[in-house]
Amino acid sequence: MSEELIALVNHYMKAGCNQYVHMNGLQKLREAIAEKIFYLYQQKINPDTEITITPGGSYAIYTALTTVLNPGDEVIIFEPAYDSYIPNVEINGAIPVLIQLTYPDYKIDWKEVRKRISHKTKMIMLNSPHNPTGAVLSKEDMSQLQQIVNETNIFILSDEVYEHLIFDGTEHESILKYPDLFKRSFVCFSFGKVFHCTGWKLGYCVAPSAFMKEFRKVHQFDAFSSNSPMQFAIADFLKDKENYIHLPKFMQQKRDYFQQLMQQTKFTPLTSHGSYFQLYSYKNISDENEKDFAIRLTKDFGVATIPVSAFYKTERDDKLLRFCFAKKESTLNDAVNRLLKV
Ligand SMILES: Cc1ncc(COP(=O)(O)O)c(C=O)c1O
Repeated sequence: MSEELIALVNHYMKAGCNQYVHMNGLQKLREAIAEKIFYLYQQKINPDTEITITPGGSYAIYTALTTVLNPGDEVIIFEPAYDSYIPNVEINGAIPVLIQLTYPDYKIDWKEVRKRISHKTKMIMLNSPHNPTGAVLSKEDMSQLQQIVNETNIFILSDEVYEHLIFDGTEHESILKYPDLFKRSFVCFSFGKVFHCTGWKLGYCVAPSAFMKEFRKVHQFDAFSSNSPMQFAIADFLKDKENYIHLPKFMQQKRDYFQQLMQQTKFTPLTSHGSYFQLYSYKNISDENEKDFAIRLTKDFGVATIPVSAFYKTERDDKLLRFCFAKKESTLNDAVNRLLKV
């Protein structure tokens, strides 16, 4: 992770920036985010009324859901799904409507989405780049989404925590690029994910001002304020665009390095277009179910992975594991040396 960013946090801690900052987040950080959004997506976002800094992306997601959901509302969630989505919907008394992404390319079946929409559909949850599959949404996906929600009151929650971790020159299709979609959306981001400091738990939500006003009512009596010195530091760090522009290339190099090493093993890769995850099939190695195989890999070989079935509520076993390649080359070397013995 960036030594410069660590030095900035140290600087601001020593300079006494250790007390609560404004509930909405540090003004200069919100301004820096609005500037970044304008630069990347050519959208004018008001830093006073449309951005709130949160203790992580998952907190932003939970707060957005709590802001709009009532008991009995239906929320469309695509499986495999990040583990907080279903419990976050259910804790609000709402009903997850689960739609499986197509296998093995993990695309949204928009015909199926049309079928599953009802008068109770309150929200559609999206995640691109996608955890655990590394799939990304395309322009065509955004156009399908637009047609489906047009003339409905359906909200969108767009989880874009892997915003800059996208490969092969593909552009990230942020909801922020589409004003017609943004007007019904909460868009959630994570500094932890993009700057490789997940333990700092700092993120933000961007939403139209009327939604943000309600979002802040939930936030006010939950975390209320987010980590101060990190906000000062990241506000400075964002001033240099290179600090986020280089991220796709940086993470793609890790993906390519890992994939190259893995060619020596019996695991077979699926495609990863973004995030820092890569799915591998172990069909050529074992018939064990994903969970048992993942546990054995951890215990007997010292390599921790996540069975993809853990991201489904629906029973499913495609003999796939999720590997994380956001590691030092020496760690990747060591892991693959162990996997060669499997
Ligand atoms: C898709 C997705 N959304 C949200 C989060 C949570 O982000 P944060 O650590 O900033 O809360 C994660 C973390 O793994 C994730 O994979």
